[in-house]
Amino acid sequence: MFQHVEAYPGDPILSLNEAFGKDTRPGKINVSIGIYFDDNGKIPMLPSVRAAEHKVVNDAGARPYLPMEGAANFRSAVQQLLFGTDSAAVKEGRVVTMQTVGSSGGLKIGGDFIKRYFPQSVMLVSDPTWDNHRAVFEGCGMTVKTYPYYDSATGGLKFEAMLEALKAADKHSIVLLHACCHNPTGVDLSKEQWQALVPVIKERELIPFMDLAYQGYGDGIDEDAFAIRLFAEQGLSFFVANSFSKSMSLYGERCGALSVVCPDAAQAVNVLGQMKATIRRNYSNPPIHGGQLVAQVLSDATLRPMWEAEVKEMRERIQLMRRKLHDVLSAKVPGRDFSYFLTQRGMFSYTGLSAEQCDRLREEFGLYLVRSGRMCIAGLNSGNVEAAANAIAAVLK
Ligand code: LMR
Repeated sequence: MFQHVEAYPGDPILSLNEAFGKDTRPGKINVSIGIYFDDNGKIPMLPSVRAAEHKVVNDAGARPYLPMEGAANFRSAVQQLLFGTDSAAVKEGRVVTMQTVGSSGGLKIGGDFIKRYFPQSVMLVSDPTWDNHRAVFEGCGMTVKTYPYYDSATGGLKFEAMLEALKAADKHSIVLLHACCHNPTGVDLSKEQWQALVPVIKERELIPFMDLAYQGYGDGIDEDAFAIRLFAEQGLSFFVANSFSKSMSLYGERCGALSVVCPDAAQAVNVLGQMKATIRRNYSNPPIHGGQLVAQVLSDATLRPMWEAEVKEMRERIQLMRRKLHDVLSAKVPGRDFSYFLTQRGMFSYTGLSAEQCDRLREEFGLYLVRSGRMCIAGLNSGNVEAAANAIAAVLK
């Protein structure tokens, strides 16, 4: 019956994480998956989220189905977090937000909606992008192409080439943009570069699809929403998928949202309606628990500043690991420039290591990187950063 079902080669990120779990070597280091580990190598339970959970569990009653678009308190808290408390677009009723099953759920719902209402539109993703972007959007039936992004010669951004590609894109092309902490490279646009994109998007009538999975890990919670707020102020119509996996350490709760900024409130009503239909066709409605933790943290006068301080601490610990890695590698491999570890933002750095070098690191040293050379700096800690740097230095020599 199932002879025609091919073997699954595995996901490039999740398979590595599984292999790491099975590795019995005591000195193994996981810098593969995008998860924040604390300085003891543990996934933190944030105190703000723990306190929110106590409250949510104490107050818990019956568990009816949520509406297709999710819980109202979660949705409005997300709008304020993304667009700011004073957003004209939100006040004008032009923004619709749906609670989704992780931001991956938001990408999928958005992709299905786009395939239905912009059937000719091509999805343009950065070269490179998160491995799963192509899979999700192709899974929605979309054609996925790339625009230039990462410059392997400098470890920075090919901004002019990116801009030229977008200037040449077809009307209503969907442009997937990482709002901050680009995955996998850690290379972000500057404020000026985001501003320079706006006239091109307007002129070509492009539709940005922002992915915001790492809010707070770049420069700050509000700072990392810069591009989203800019696009909203500039009157663009666009999509935003955001996640609380990393920012609240709620990975397994699959807690995210999809927001759509529309030209006017009447269009927003219809977009919300069709998004509900799309959600109904996919998973009917989202789960309750994780969204209520998020809503509680974001809206509670005590928990909110507590969470902001926790995010700052996680961000600063990553920055410290970046500096340590840079310093040890610069000393061990003189003549090679490792400054990209300092300039790249968020959890990830693109190391420039080849797939073969990554294989050696995994097999000989127990250091697990994605074979593209992507390294999750948040997997390093004061106890393993030196060993990681030594291993990398050994394969570079
Ligand atoms: C990653 O990029 O490693 C994370 O976003 C986890 C995932 O699902 O791939």
